Amino acid sequence: MKIAVLPGDGIGPEIVAEAVKVLDALKLDLHLQSAPVGGAAYEASGHPLPPATLELAKASDAILFGAVGDWKYDTLERALRPEQAILGLRKALGLFANFRPAICYKELTHASSLKPELVSGLDILIIRELTGDIYFGQPRGRRSAPDGHFPGAEEAFDTMRYTRPEIERIGHVAFQAAQKRSKRVTSVDKANVLETFQLWKDVMTDVGKQYPDVQLDHMYVDNAAMQLVKEPKRFDVVVTGNMFGDILSDEASMLTGSIGMLPSASLNDKKQGLYEPSHGSAPDIAGKGVANPLATILSAAMMLRFSLGQEAAAQKIEAAVQKVLAQGLRTPDIYSEGTTKVGTQQMGDAVVAAL
Ligand code: NAD
Ligand code: IPM
Ligand code: MN
Repeated sequence: MKIAVLPGDGIGPEIVAEAVKVLDALKLDLHLQSAPVGGAAYEASGHPLPPATLELAKASDAILFGAVGDWKYDTLERALRPEQAILGLRKALGLFANFRPAICYKELTHASSLKPELVSGLDILIIRELTGDIYFGQPRGRRSAPDGHFPGAEEAFDTMRYTRPEIERIGHVAFQAAQKRSKRVTSVDKANVLETFQLWKDVMTDVGKQYPDVQLDHMYVDNAAMQLVKEPKRFDVVVTGNMFGDILSDEASMLTGSIGMLPSASLNDKKQGLYEPSHGSAPDIAGKGVANPLATILSAAMMLRFSLGQEAAAQKIEAAVQKVLAQGLRTPDIYSEGTTKVGTQQMGDAVVAAL
C-alpha cells in the first residue's frame, strides 16, 4: 500500500511527523514516500504543486497531507500561492467527497467554547462537496466593471456553479452515510437567494426519494450556522456545497473542543483519498512545538479505514487517542483546568504508547 506523505507548510511538518510515527508503530505493510507541497515546494522549485508531487499523489493509494499556506505568499499571483496545491490535488484526483466528522470526545466536553451539555455526546458528519461551487466556477477574474452603479470601476467576480450530476453524486454519498448512522440528512443551501442552491435543493430532494429510510431536511445556511451553536445535537449528517461546507466545518470544529481535533477525508469514486486535518498551517504557532497533532493522527485513522481496508488498525488509533485524552494529556488548544499540558511530540508519543 503506497502512501504519499505531503507535509507542506507551517505546522504541517510537525503534525504529519506525529501521524507518521503512529503509522510506523502499527507495523503494517505501508510504503510511505514524502514530497514537497505548498510554500515549501514553491521555495524549492517555483511551483506549489510540482509535477513530481502530483505524479506521486496519483500513483498512491492514499495521500497524507499536512497543511499549506503562509501570509508571506499572499501577494504572489494566485496560480503560485500554496493553497493552489491542495485545490489542484482535489481537482486532479477528482476528490469530490469530503468527510469532516465533528465528534466531541467525552473528555473534551469542557474544552469546547459551548456549554458542556450542548456538546456532550456530539457526533456530526459534515459532508462537503469539494470539487465544484464558487471555488472552481468559471469565469472569474478582475476587470473594469462593464455596467452597474460604478461602470468602469475596478471589479472582481467569481462564478458559483453546480451541475445536476455533481449534486447527485455527493447526495448519494450523504444518504448512504446516513443509512449507516441515525438515518437523518440535513441539506444546507441558500435556495431562497441563489439559483445554484435551488438546483442543489431540488436534486437533493430527488436523490432522497431513492432513500425512503432516510429523513431529509433542508436548511438555509444562515440558519444552519445559528443552529450549530444553538442546538448542535439536532444534526446527524450535514451535506452542503464547497464554500458553505468550508465555513460550517470550521464552526463545527469548536464544538469538539478545537480545530486541532477535526480530521478529514477527501475521496474520489475509486476510494483513493487525501487525508488531512481540517485546519490550516497555523503560522501563528508554527515551529513552537505546541500544535495539536490529533486531527492529523485521526485523519491517518480515516485513511486506514477508507482507502487501505484496515478497519482494525483505524479503531486502534481512535482508541489510543481516546486513551491519551482520558489520561488527561492536552495540547494548549484543548487545555482545561486539572489536565496536563503537553507539546506536539509528547502527544504523538503518548498515542504511540497507548496503541
Ligand atoms: P488555521 O486553521 O491555520 O488557523 C486558525 C487558528 O487555529 C489559528 O489560531 C491556529 O493557531 C489554530 N490552529 C489551527 N490548527 C491548530 C492545531 N492543530 N493545533 C492548535 N491550534 C491550531 O487558519 P488560518 O489562520 O485562517 O490560515 C492559515 C494558513 O493556512 C492560510 O495560508 C490558509 O490559506 C491556510 N489553510 C490551509 C488549509 C489546508 O492546507 N488544507 C486549510 C485551511 C487554511
Ligand atoms: C480547507 C481550507 C482550503 C479550502 C483552502 C486552504 C483552499 O480552508 O481545506 O478547509 O478552502 O478548502
Ligand atoms: Mn477551511
